Amino acid sequence: MVAAVPKETVPGERRVALTPEGVSGIVSRGVEVLVERGAGEGAGFDDDAYAGAGAGIVDDVFARRPDVVLKVAPPSIEEARRLAERSAYVGFLYPTSNPGLVEAFNERSVCSFAMELMPRITRAQSMDALSAMSSIAGYKAALLAADALPKFFPMLMTAAGTTPPAKVFVIGAGVAGLQAIATCKRLGAQVEAFDVRPAAKEQVESLGGRFVGINLLAEEAEDAGGYAKEVSADTHGKELELIASRLPKTDVVITTALIPGKRAPILITREMAKTMPKGSVIVDLAAPAGGNCESTVPGQTTHEDGITILAPLDLVSSMAADASRMYSKNLSEFLKLLAPKDRLEFDLQDEIVKATLVTCEGRIAHDPTRLALEHGGGA
Ligand code: NAI
Repeated sequence: MVAAVPKETVPGERRVALTPEGVSGIVSRGVEVLVERGAGEGAGFDDDAYAGAGAGIVDDVFARRPDVVLKVAPPSIEEARRLAERSAYVGFLYPTSNPGLVEAFNERSVCSFAMELMPRITRAQSMDALSAMSSIAGYKAALLAADALPKFFPMLMTAAGTTPPAKVFVIGAGVAGLQAIATCKRLGAQVEAFDVRPAAKEQVESLGGRFVGINLLAEEAEDAGGYAKEVSADTHGKELELIASRLPKTDVVITTALIPGKRAPILITREMAKTMPKGSVIVDLAAPAGGNCESTVPGQTTHEDGITILAPLDLVSSMAADASRMYSKNLSEFLKLLAPKDRLEFDLQDEIVKATLVTCEGRIAHDPTRLALEHGGGA
């Protein structure tokens, strides 16, 4: 079996699908690995390191007709059309909003797997790329907030007086939120957090944060898989009241509230943001899904009424070395499931395979993608 790692082509994408360490693990299982020249440059891994790990360095991996292509960002349609007939593709895909790509995979009868569809179950933990990337985003959000705030995060006692610690409020205590809490605590801030899932309380407290919450029943806030679901209008109103009550005493808000597959809920209106002390900072991690803050402009930093609102979209790529290490580990583990020996041989009934498979043998295997394509060619 030949596995190939192309150079990423999306502007600004610095990650690479496999690190040299990942390559050597795969090569040791009898798989031939080809890496496109310069593929690891953005993440700090040079061609010599890949060659030393046993990879073949080539100028055009697609021309070698590999059995499986491993990538980070979704391929362009041109790249997808160059995949070998009946080969496999693994990477982030977002298929419901990429109908042309899904069609290109089917034209070539490619079995495509979307890493963002990895189920959050214990057996798939080591393959959970979305969680790995979100924890990077949460960490980086805390650093950006500390950098943009014109105050110290920790309490400082100096000859020039004592400064109180910064007060941070994290909204949405999932993977990114918990990492943001942990990082803000390490930097010495006082941290409060809120999530609609009652189960988040214990996790916030275990990191030394204070959970502020409205009493919700687990059934109201969580679906069967433990993910958040949309709350009722009444609960949403109570939630806005709670958030509004915290903002006048908050220096930094980090928002991460996400309902899978939906636009992010607006949790901070323009009017609410205005009540924060001048100089305060909001980091809206939900920007890729539209943002939790009404003032958010995805991808930009804006200033409104003395408040700085950061809405970065490229946090993970800004930590390309560790992001690639984590992603490479996720992919290597997933590849063990898809190719337990030295060739592709996966069980279509396996829970992880079923959840991540988007196309196979010319058909769409992922129901939400099929529905999205049937209803107007993309969501
Ligand atoms: P997650 O699903 O683990 O966590 C989201 C949390 O939000 C859940 O705990 C959920 O209960 C909570 N939530 C949902 N609705 C809520 C509401 N109305 N009020 C309070 N809490 C609510 O998601 P994860 O992996 O932590 O990702 C969080 C966000 O970070 C996502 O929006 C994701 O797109 C973003 N992200 C941003 C990146 C960037 O570069 N800006 C990079 C990676 C992730």
